[in-house]
Amino acid sequence: MRIVFIGPPGAGKGTQSARLARYLGIPHLSTGEILRNAKKAGTDLGKIVGPIMDSGGLVGDELMLDVVAERLAADDCNAGFLLDGFPRTVPQAKAFDQFLASRSMHIDHVIELRVADVEIIKRLETRFRDMKDPRADDNPESIPRRLNVYHNETSPLLGYYARQGNVLKKVDGLGTVDTVFDRILLSIGRGIPRAPRDTRHW
Ligand code: AP5
Ligand code: MG
Repeated sequence: MRIVFIGPPGAGKGTQSARLARYLGIPHLSTGEILRNAKKAGTDLGKIVGPIMDSGGLVGDELMLDVVAERLAADDCNAGFLLDGFPRTVPQAKAFDQFLASRSMHIDHVIELRVADVEIIKRLETRFRDMKDPRADDNPESIPRRLNVYHNETSPLLGYYARQGNVLKKVDGLGTVDTVFDRILLSIGRGIPRAPRDTRHW
């Protein structure tokens, strides 16, 4: 199964993607994590993307496509993958569709996590305050820029995917992590698991 998560910064994409990927037994590919790891390791990629990420801007489309194509070439992606944070612009989505089509593949589900800006600001401010080693882009100056970038450059993707049959699933991202996860499972036709929550392994 091939799944894409879309949502504003702080919507819970990372939280829910990690859980869904474990549940489905497919790799969780967070482009933000890949770039943050490159920055931490001081690689050439990390040096290019570090300042862009910290300020809340977007890394260039071509570079992102290279990063994703390289990761998808690994064997663990053969049976499917969950992309968290890519595509993030309409040009990325169009190029990615071509990439998939040339390999006779397609996306099964695009999950839009919907959370209002006011809640996002609260979540990211809390994370910035509470983390020992906070993310540079959670600083109070970068958060508004990330939100603007989402509304201007990423949200047009929703119209793009809405025109592709029944691929786009809109999920309310407000509520507990368990509640949102159950909504996500329902949205992709998996129903709500019946096991008691404390015995879940994902
Ligand atoms: P990326 O790492 O993708 O960051 P983001 O989307 O801006 O936001 P987050 O990762 O902070 O949010 P999230 O939705 O994953 O939420 P999370 O689960 O963490 O990208 C970072 C940067 O990399 C970009 O700005 C860009 O520069 C670059 N980049 C990456 N991909 C790119 C691409 N394709 N093209 C160009 N540039 C790219 O949760 C957030 C907080 O909320 C946490 O504290 C969490 O505990 C809490 N939380 C989660 N769920 C709930 C809930 N249900 N209720 C209450 N709190 C919750
Ligand atoms: Mg994330």
